[in-house]
Amino acid sequence: MSNNDYEFVKWFRSAAPYIHAHRGKTVVLQFEGDLIDSKEFFHLVHDIALLNSLGIRLVIVFGARPQIEKLQQQKNIQSHIVSGLRLTDEASITCVKEAVGAVRIQIEALLSMGLPNSPMEDAQVKVTSGNFITAKPIGVIDGVDLVLTGEVRRVDTETMIRKLDNNEIVLLSPIGYSPTGEVFNLRATEVAMKVAISLGADKLLYFMSGEGLKDEEGEDIHQLTQQEAGTMIECSNLADSAHLQLSCGIRACNEGVKRIHFLQQGQEGSLLLELFSRDGVGTLLSAASFDQIRTATIDDIGGILELIEPLEQEGILLRRSREKIEADIEAYTVLVRDGTVIACGALHIEEDNKYAELACFAVDINYQESGKGEELFLKIEEQAIKKGVEKLFVLTTQTAHWFLERGFIEGEIDDLPVSKQALYNYQRNSKVLIETLV
Ligand SMILES: CC(C)(COP(=O)(O)OP(=O)(O)OC[C@H]1O[C@@H](n2cnc3c(N)ncnc32)[C@H](O)[C@@H]1OP(=O)(O)O)[C@@H](O)C(=O)NCCC(=O)NCCS
Repeated sequence: MSNNDYEFVKWFRSAAPYIHAHRGKTVVLQFEGDLIDSKEFFHLVHDIALLNSLGIRLVIVFGARPQIEKLQQQKNIQSHIVSGLRLTDEASITCVKEAVGAVRIQIEALLSMGLPNSPMEDAQVKVTSGNFITAKPIGVIDGVDLVLTGEVRRVDTETMIRKLDNNEIVLLSPIGYSPTGEVFNLRATEVAMKVAISLGADKLLYFMSGEGLKDEEGEDIHQLTQQEAGTMIECSNLADSAHLQLSCGIRACNEGVKRIHFLQQGQEGSLLLELFSRDGVGTLLSAASFDQIRTATIDDIGGILELIEPLEQEGILLRRSREKIEADIEAYTVLVRDGTVIACGALHIEEDNKYAELACFAVDINYQESGKGEELFLKIEEQAIKKGVEKLFVLTTQTAHWFLERGFIEGEIDDLPVSKQALYNYQRNSKVLIETLV
């Protein structure tokens, strides 16, 4: 087997858990018109077809802003913005219909491809569009009637679910229809949010124009809580489209959509990386739990001791003195609920930064088996990755399988860093489990 073959097999296996996890899940995906005109779009459509063939239930909502503006310019139609909203009059709505229709046909055509020797060979994707969205006028804002600029009034989830059950991709435009027979111009971002909420979607995925979500240092943000996202909306200078996507994401999260992903446009393959790799490439906004995960302070020492003492007595965890925990307190991360430490874990990074040990990892017995261990572990793992740690190891007597199920493999004492080998307690005979992070 060549190295390439080996890498391929390794990669394919690593994607398997995500393939299983996403099958049968409902994902609402939204992008704007500028993505449709980019080179990346052709590949994105192939990736969408692949997701469909893997049994993911897909709703796609497209915007067509640049296409509409281009037509308005050609026809010398002025566009008016009122309080951040675009006014759609009778003349503009003809451009909206024309541009949206053309984009819809373009997407349907790409999804219908089936050329041999292409990723679309034998794909046979079924796409459905229709009057799924009932709209109503936004009305008069600041004294100005926005005429045919509308908002979502109702989503026909029943029909949509039937189509998804039939493995069809539902393709939605930024257009809605009213019971009076009028056509309204909607914001695709809001349509996606409303559809995700109405369907109770598992994921809502926004492609962002511009540079994606960054922190103050300009670094990509991988995870956001609702609270952090709320602060970002208030404090940072987001572009209008990003601002709208983030606020719609928060609303979707508040109304039960578990995971909202924000992906930066312009990175080919980002959709697959986001869904089928451990770290993804975008920003994940997930429902805030009322638990807080943070670095421990000396005030947490009492809580940590209370949590771990029974486990030390049973011999599950190694004994640690109060002084030792105090000296290492910055290595500890705690999960706190209503001021009580309900889980803890320490990340001890070796001097060369290559290895780190996950130690003193425990969840209060009253809170076990509810995903708290997983939540805390992911946070500590993220810290290790950020610090450039290559291998994360853990020594355990009774919890080997928990770690094996999370990507660790069993190793030997010789696989540990030399400093740790010297301290290995042969009497305790812990199993060595190692996770490769890079
Ligand atoms: C290991 C531990 C941290 C897991 O925390 P948790 O919050 O209960 O874990 P989660 O809710 O995220 O995961 C629950 C899953 O892990 C499984 N699990 C729990 N303990 C396990 C163990 N010892 N071995 C294998 N699997 C285990 C559960 O059966 C459950 O599986 P399921 O989802 O298929 O039903 C917790 O059991 C604990 O504190 N153990 C004692 C301390 C310890 O052994 N620490 C590790 C050495 S440092």
